[in-house]
Amino acid sequence: MNFRLLKPKHMGMTMTNNNYIKRLILSFLAVALFAVPGAALAEQAPDAIKKDLLEEGKKVYFKRCVWCHGVEGGGDGPSADRLFTRPRNFIQGTFKIRTTDSGELPMEADLIKTVKNGLPGSAMPAWGEFLSNDEIVAAVNFVKTLVQDRDFNDTEDEEVTIQDFGTNPWGTKGPYHLGVPQADIDVGKEIFMKNKCFECHGGEGRGDGNPTMKDDWGFPIVAADWQQCWNFRGSRRNHYDPFNVVRTISTGLNGTPMPNFKDQINVEDRWKIAAFVNSLCPRKNIDRLTNKPVPDFLIQSVYTEGNVVGKIDDPSWASPDTDYRIVDLSEEQAENPLKHYIAMAGQITRGKRNFDPKTDNLWISSRWSAEEGAIYYLVEYHQRFMSDDPEFPDAVAIQWPAKLQDLFGAEKPYFIFGDSKKPVDIWKASFMAKDYSATAAPNEKGYQLDVSVTETVGNGFDAIADKESEGKVEVVDSIYHQGRVKVMFKRSLKTEGEFDVQIPSEQFIPVAFMQWSGRDKEHDEHMAISTWYYTILKPALPASLYYMPPIIAAIFICFQGWLVWMTKRTRKMYDEGKARRDELPK
Ligand code: HEC
Ligand code: HEC
Repeated sequence: MNFRLLKPKHMGMTMTNNNYIKRLILSFLAVALFAVPGAALAEQAPDAIKKDLLEEGKKVYFKRCVWCHGVEGGGDGPSADRLFTRPRNFIQGTFKIRTTDSGELPMEADLIKTVKNGLPGSAMPAWGEFLSNDEIVAAVNFVKTLVQDRDFNDTEDEEVTIQDFGTNPWGTKGPYHLGVPQADIDVGKEIFMKNKCFECHGGEGRGDGNPTMKDDWGFPIVAADWQQCWNFRGSRRNHYDPFNVVRTISTGLNGTPMPNFKDQINVEDRWKIAAFVNSLCPRKNIDRLTNKPVPDFLIQSVYTEGNVVGKIDDPSWASPDTDYRIVDLSEEQAENPLKHYIAMAGQITRGKRNFDPKTDNLWISSRWSAEEGAIYYLVEYHQRFMSDDPEFPDAVAIQWPAKLQDLFGAEKPYFIFGDSKKPVDIWKASFMAKDYSATAAPNEKGYQLDVSVTETVGNGFDAIADKESEGKVEVVDSIYHQGRVKVMFKRSLKTEGEFDVQIPSEQFIPVAFMQWSGRDKEHDEHMAISTWYYTILKPALPASLYYMPPIIAAIFICFQGWLVWMTKRTRKMYDEGKARRDELPK
């Protein structure tokens, strides 16, 4: 019997692949069915199956994939121009995510996995959510026929070598960082230095090493930000697994400047550098829908005795997750403000839309002081390269309901620039890094920012106006260092301005964020935005007041559960004649 169409030469080496075996069995059954009427038919049957598979694949492709990948697979569908990274052009047969050697074609199983899981950090969706396994297999087989420059669409596929990636030496499963000895992470860091990964990935791995890279298709490309490992291309559902990094440095990413290090770094050492890379990524719960960290919808502003120190470097701002690792902090510091994760997305509802903002998150921490009557917000985000064009400065903004006191319950203004009935108060800091050049060697100490603050009232997209009252918002400290911007805002809790938000304590206050990347010429409504979050000024109360209410609630719920259980049990006893009706609880 002829299995070749189902088993291209190179597949022979992955006999353990599950999908492959399932398909093999199914195809075997199908072929057997065809084979029954006579031996002559059996010879043609595989072609018929292949034809059906490709027909099905074509259907899926033209329904689902063509919008981005184009009619002939040239990566030029109608949406392509708006996307960064661009959809893949299949014609040359260059694929990033493989288990095969650098420069080689992927295994069919690699493609199936990619299509199923999507490519995080790009527009390529996880098709496993929408398509059946058979549809995915069919689509992948159709995609293979679109490859023109290499032999990748029929029985005579090119030879490939599947790599040996070794096994996780620590035997760790999620959450992965636990159980990896610090000594191995330190060795990993040395390997990182020796192999100069920083030339592209930056000194702290934020992808800020080289602003001039292009991919094989001539489009600009940036190195991955290791501190956002949920955006690694080959990582969905196992973001913190060092295997992703081992695979990437073993195979390289074809079509991009990311080289392979198969010969420079032995397999054991690849796991150690992977542990190091992995250790830089903040541990957050990952939302299974978005494949990014679950946003921290409540930003707690920490009560501060006396005055807040408005210096980014001050120990009072060291977060318990500084460096994103569990670090030893003094008892006092354990009460420091947390860094809250804010999810950002492109503004696509109006005018200058933004489908591909480079920044998809901010981190916010906050303190307030009753004595000073002021609140401080520290806004941090990763920005690989800053703008050097004064016409397009970088910027971030915090947005509030201007008339908080007039809102009922959960009522909020429209989340982008407010609406005609419910105005918003927007604090915007625009800045340029001093003496900065993206291509010069990074400044060890970082760059001071030249900041200007504006305060505006928003009544909708077309109705944004400067406030008449004198500005009250200040930026008290700021820095750009190793691909990260930090800006600290300060404002009095209470002010005189008609459209200034008046910040009460112990009340949930809606707050939203905006961000503009000058280098990508973002301005006005061409920006990244968040939805409404909430902030609250935590009062100066003993911690017990925070955990007591949940405990009381838990006890109450348990008690109710017990009552229900008792009722059922008694009913059952009654039904079984073990109890009399007058014992039944009402
Ligand atoms: C919304 C746009 C979009 C749609 C729809 C889409 N893709 Fe993609 N696809 C992309 C982008 C963008 C990339 C490149 C991402 C990157 O380089 O990281 C990509 C890359 C790929 C790759 C290359 C993987 C690799 O290892 O290099 C394959 C294969 C692929 N897509 C298959 C499909 C299939 C099959 C479908 C339909 C079921 C589909 N895509 C639908 C946007 C899309
Ligand atoms: C010449 C530049 C360059 C060097 C040197 C380099 N990288 Fe990369 N790396 C890249 C680029 C560019 C990408 C992103 C490619 C893309 O988005 O498709 C990348 C992506 C990655 C990714 C993410 C892969 C994924 O799943 O999306 C990891 C992990 C990585 N590199 C690790 C390393 C390590 C470790 C080293 C050093 C041993 C290194 N890189 C050296 C350019 C480089």
